[in-house]
Amino acid sequence: MSGSNELIPVPDGEFTFTWSEFREIAALIHGEAGIVLSEGKVNLVYSRLAKRLRAIGLRSFREYCELLKSKSGNDERQAMISAITTNVTRFFRESHHFDFLRESVFPSLVSRARSGERVRLWSAGCSSGEEPYSIAMTLLAMMPDALSHDILILATDIDPEMIKRGKAATYTQSQAAGIPDEFRAIGLEKGRGGPDVRISECVRALIRFNELNLLGAWPMKGQFDVIFCRNVVIYFDEETQDEIWGRFAGMMPDGAFLCIGHSERVPVDRHPFELVAQTAYRKRGN
Ligand SMILES: C[S@@+](CC[C@H](N)C(=O)[O-])C[C@H]1O[C@@H](n2cnc3c(N)ncnc32)[C@H](O)[C@@H]1O
Repeated sequence: MSGSNELIPVPDGEFTFTWSEFREIAALIHGEAGIVLSEGKVNLVYSRLAKRLRAIGLRSFREYCELLKSKSGNDERQAMISAITTNVTRFFRESHHFDFLRESVFPSLVSRARSGERVRLWSAGCSSGEEPYSIAMTLLAMMPDALSHDILILATDIDPEMIKRGKAATYTQSQAAGIPDEFRAIGLEKGRGGPDVRISECVRALIRFNELNLLGAWPMKGQFDVIFCRNVVIYFDEETQDEIWGRFAGMMPDGAFLCIGHSERVPVDRHPFELVAQTAYRKRGN
């Protein structure tokens, strides 16, 4: 392990950064967001947080650590987490999950909704909204009358900026290029000029965006028939991942589905899930 007050040889040297400051920051981020930052991430941490130091006019990481620890450091702790999180996402990313929804999940959810049951889906760690919008487009293409039934998709993320972008529902043409042709008519506003596209009103109406830290309290009351939590827990340690899988299980009825990222796994020996498709799990009954 690198020595505490040893200076880190950062690329531009604009701000001094020591290993003990790196470890203080890593501990704070782990405590607040569950994200593990190994020493190998030091250049990433430096370059992302150097922007914060410039933005708020600080001269050193020492000053930054003092601010983060102080009572007035609340907003900056949030800004730091936003700066550190990786928000990469795409419409219809890992498209096998949308095929799985269409073929194996939605047929029964649609008939349950049509018979008056409540149906809830959750995109946990939704980033800028492409994931929940892809779920909503897949659903609406199968069930154009979805809005007249009790169906909602909750979309949450720790990063308020991502929630703002999700609510804005406006994307560049190149971001929207990932939306397959079959969903464009239902998914995008028509007749909109300019360089951007906007998600159609009927797709937007199916989604509720909210800020939520997966490590904190979950104020939602009801259960979820489908949870997407993809490429989020990959940044957490195993213990935190286990805690999240256990809490998801507690929010799902037997037979509900959990879709996770391509490099993630749910340990089915410790949690009541069975793998039913590529990175898609079904909650087992007891
Ligand atoms: C790589 S993106 C994945 C987005 C989307 N699920 C996908 O697969 O395309 C990871 C998202 O998880 C969010 N995140 C990280 N830690 C979180 C936490 N503790 N609680 C809630 N969201 C978190 C980040 O802000 C980021 O938007």
